[in-house]
Amino acid sequence: MSSNVNPAGTLPQLKTLLTEKLAVIEALPEVDAAACVDAFGQAYGLEPATVVAGNGTTQLIYTAPLALGLKRVLILGPTYADYADACRMHGVAYQHFLMKPEADFELDWAGFEQALPNVDGVFICNPNNPTGGLLDSEALRGLCRRHCAIHFFVDESYLPFAPDGEAHSLINFSESNLIVLNSMSKIFGLPGLRIGFLVAAAKLAARFRHYAQPWSLNALAQIAVKWLMTHAEEREAFIRQTRQTLAAEKEDLFANLAAVPGLRLYPSATSFVLTRLPAGVKAADIYRQLLSVRLLTRDCSNFIGLDERYLRISLKGPEANRRVAHVLSQMRGSQIHAPAT
Ligand SMILES: Cc1ncc(COP(=O)(O)O)c(C=O)c1O
Repeated sequence: MSSNVNPAGTLPQLKTLLTEKLAVIEALPEVDAAACVDAFGQAYGLEPATVVAGNGTTQLIYTAPLALGLKRVLILGPTYADYADACRMHGVAYQHFLMKPEADFELDWAGFEQALPNVDGVFICNPNNPTGGLLDSEALRGLCRRHCAIHFFVDESYLPFAPDGEAHSLINFSESNLIVLNSMSKIFGLPGLRIGFLVAAAKLAARFRHYAQPWSLNALAQIAVKWLMTHAEEREAFIRQTRQTLAAEKEDLFANLAAVPGLRLYPSATSFVLTRLPAGVKAADIYRQLLSVRLLTRDCSNFIGLDERYLRISLKGPEANRRVAHVLSQMRGSQIHAPAT
């Protein structure tokens, strides 16, 4: 429950295929994964020149400051730490614009826009990790259009989990200053294969390609991409099923924890839920107690913009979800009402 990967695992047909094709590891794969880039482009209606493949989106995140020649970056937080780590790696100055707990982590669009003139790059995670919030795609488009000298880097790694996720994607919005990330790790339950894509205007994509490393997509990953991109029916059915299951599980979790005094669950468009524990209760303590019953969650106290009260729960199967809800409601009592010693 600390890892935000599809609780269903991967597609059984894909697992079988990869097992059958294991012998491909005895030869080098295509060096630039061109066939995968083509297949991805075909599946999403994109020109191959606008698509770059990476060893997970991680590789593309860490290339961005270099490829885009960034000098001053704004990161919309609280969010995934790797955007800041990537800036640090390349000696790029960065700051966070933080969405506030008292505003339920809703973005103050006007305040955000006011902070833009000082930067040349913006990192946005949509839906956001760890808050689960989804930004309005029309508003994001407007921002991109109004600030064409700034590079907008939008990470859509968790968007396929969102109901009607495609409608919110900027992948087909070909703006010259927009870079969109698409990860296959989360939705297709394949974090070990390391598959990520980037979509940007051809000129920007070429800059990322310039810094790409040979054989970034390994032989098995290339087979997986080609299969996923050419089996639309299976792919879409899997995503549909994932969304349905998640919606039901999320509803249960919210219902099971609704009566716990002082506990706040933030509405999430994706596969994990951020919780703020009651005042006086530390996430580190709850984390340890959950761990003692073999439930691993994410203590979010090291996210910039969060404090020691935040815990992220990544939904798994009904049994695990109910167990975590049960333990959380029990623990609240012992934590809050423990007699002073
Ligand atoms: C927001 C976000 N983006 C990107 C990644 C990296 O994913 P991958 O490199 O597996 O595509 C993660 C992983 O946790 C993430 O949370």
